[in-house]
Amino acid sequence: MKDIVLTGDRPTGNLHLGHFVGSIANRLKLQNELDYDKFYIMIADTQALTDNANNVEKVKNNIIQVTIDYLSCGIDPRKVNIFIQSQVPQLFEITSYFLNLVTVARLQRNPTIKEELKVRGFNNAIPAGFLTYPVSQAADILAFQTTLVPVGEDQLPMIEQTREIVHAFNNIYQPKSQVFSLPKPILPEKKICERLPGVDGKVKMSKSAGNAINLCDDEKTVKQKIMSAYTDPDHIRVSDPGKIQGNVVFAYLDAFCQDKHFKKYLPDYENLDQLKQHYEKGGLGDVKVKLFLNDILQELLTPIREKRLQLEKDIDSIYEMLFENSKKASLEAQKTLQQMKDAMGLNYKKLLEKH
Ligand code: TRP
Repeated sequence: MKDIVLTGDRPTGNLHLGHFVGSIANRLKLQNELDYDKFYIMIADTQALTDNANNVEKVKNNIIQVTIDYLSCGIDPRKVNIFIQSQVPQLFEITSYFLNLVTVARLQRNPTIKEELKVRGFNNAIPAGFLTYPVSQAADILAFQTTLVPVGEDQLPMIEQTREIVHAFNNIYQPKSQVFSLPKPILPEKKICERLPGVDGKVKMSKSAGNAINLCDDEKTVKQKIMSAYTDPDHIRVSDPGKIQGNVVFAYLDAFCQDKHFKKYLPDYENLDQLKQHYEKGGLGDVKVKLFLNDILQELLTPIREKRLQLEKDIDSIYEMLFENSKKASLEAQKTLQQMKDAMGLNYKKLLEKH
């Protein structure tokens, strides 16, 4: 049987380079190379609201922004169903049944939730919807009989939770039927792509930390951000030996640079190893490395930027596409919901017919 692929993002801001290497690149590869049955990308607006209840406008506006980001990177709407979570009501009905299969203690132990609770600073005012979003995420995945979930490392606990729910569901209701199979995550190939650092040297690029290079940033902004990126604070003169570890510019080169870029932009070197060796020895200035990185990133981002301008001219047809796709997704989810109810023996209509 061919794979069913599903993944998603919360629409809380424009996508940045961290998203590109951490998820978009992987999705493009699957879209173009995998012989799948169905491929869904879900815009998780309802999940975004679990910590943005007072910020509906932001979430709403970012639905279109994120969709434009996908399309401008080359996600092909003829191959991939991009839909909006809140427009598929079955997901929330499925969530209700799953919530009974998970304990509060288990949710509190979820490493991603723990980390996010710390960052969000909810203290004792954790929204119940936030604590339980991993269950809703399991519903997103299972509603479509998904077999593959391309994600970053931070989402692994969600897939684990999903797999536990499958076990619990099958254990309790299995005598009647086996509704769900176990979905598997797919991580990006390179380690560095799982967590791209911010331009300021912080461990993770993120919109909220203000240290991201966005896919929609203009040429000048991208260059400015690169030229002021964190490198090695002890690398003061060109002749000083420099450190690669913790150096953001080299982290980005690890993620984006290919040998062909040297031929094109920096022919004195053959590959990244040679460049690193020179930097560590001393005699290679930050500016030269940064300009090289700028060339590589502009080459990647220019066509994305141009496609975005094109797409922005016809926002209406993008909305139409999203709503059409959401309807199709809803029909699929309905099939699963019916199978679940049958397995659970939750069929009141049959009861009525008997009487
Ligand atoms: N939690 C994901 C994020 O933070 C978004 C998401 C929601 C998702 N549902 C999903 C990802 C299902 C993969 C599969 O971006």
